Amino acid sequence: MNKTVLITGASRGIGLALAKCFLKNNYNVIGTSTTGKIKSFEHPNFKNLKLELSDEKDINNIAQFLKNNNIEISILINNSGIGPDLDTLKPDIESFKKTFDINVIGTVFLTELLEPFIKMNGKIINISSKMGSIEFCALTDSTAYRMSKTALNMYTKILSNRLINKQSVASVHPGWVQTDISPNSSINGRLLADDSGLKIFNFILSDFKTGIFWNIETESEIDW
Ligand SMILES: NC(=O)c1ccc[n+]([C@@H]2O[C@H](COP(=O)([O-])OP(=O)(O)OC[C@H]3O[C@@H](n4cnc5c(N)ncnc54)[C@H](OP(=O)(O)O)[C@@H]3O)[C@@H](O)[C@H]2O)c1
Repeated sequence: MNKTVLITGASRGIGLALAKCFLKNNYNVIGTSTTGKIKSFEHPNFKNLKLELSDEKDINNIAQFLKNNNIEISILINNSGIGPDLDTLKPDIESFKKTFDINVIGTVFLTELLEPFIKMNGKIINISSKMGSIEFCALTDSTAYRMSKTALNMYTKILSNRLINKQSVASVHPGWVQTDISPNSSINGRLLADDSGLKIFNFILSDFKTGIFWNIETESEIDW
C-alpha cells in the first residue's frame, strides 16, 4: 500500500514541488491550500484539503478527515509559511501577529493534533529558514519572519526530544528559492522550486539524525 505524506501549503512554490516529487514516487499526498482549491493541478493520488492555519476549525477538520478515513501518515511536512515583513527594517504589529499566527501557533497546534496519526518511525519536517538561525544573524531586517523561524526551530528540538525512538523530526532550510513569498525571492532566488523540492525530498527519505537543522543548499547541518 502507498505511504501517505501530508504537506501544508501545497498549492504553489516549494510545497507544490514537494507534492509532485512524492506523487512521482508513488506516495499518496494530502496537500493543503487556504481556499481548498489548487489551480490546474490534479492527480489520482492527490487530495486537496482546506487549511487556513489561523483558523482552529480548519485545523480540527484536517484531523477529523484523517480519523474518518482511517488514514495514518508516514510524513508530515509543515511547509506553509508567510513573510509579510520580509525585507522590511522595522517590525509592525499587524505583520508580527499574522506571521506568528501562521508560522508558529497554527503550525504547532496542527502538529500536536496530527502527531497521533503519524506512524511509528514516521517523520515530521518543519520548513524553516536560515533566516531563523541566531548564529547566522548579522542583519536587521525581517524581524517577525526571522523570529518565527527561530521559534519553529525550538519546536523542532522540543518535538525531537519528546518523540525520541518514535518519530524523526528536523528543521529544513530550503535554500533561497524563486517563489511568491516575497518580491525579492521571486526575482533573485537562487533555486527553482522544483530543484529545492527534489533536494528536500532526498533529505526526507535519507536516514537523517533526529533533532537537526539541515541546509539543503550546502547539504549540511546549520547552527541554530
Ligand atoms: N522561498 C524561499 O526562498 C524560502 C526560503 C526559506 C524558507 N522558505 C520557507 O518555505 C516555505 C514555503 O515557502 P514558499 O517560498 O514556497 O512560499 P509561497 O510560494 O508563498 O507558498 C506559501 C504556501 O503557504 C500557504 N499559506 C500561506 N498562508 C497560509 C495560511 N494562512 N494558512 C495555511 N497555509 C498558508 C500558501 O497557500 P495558498 O496558496 O492557499 O495561499 C502556499 O501554499 C515557507 O515556510 C517559507 O518560510 C522559503
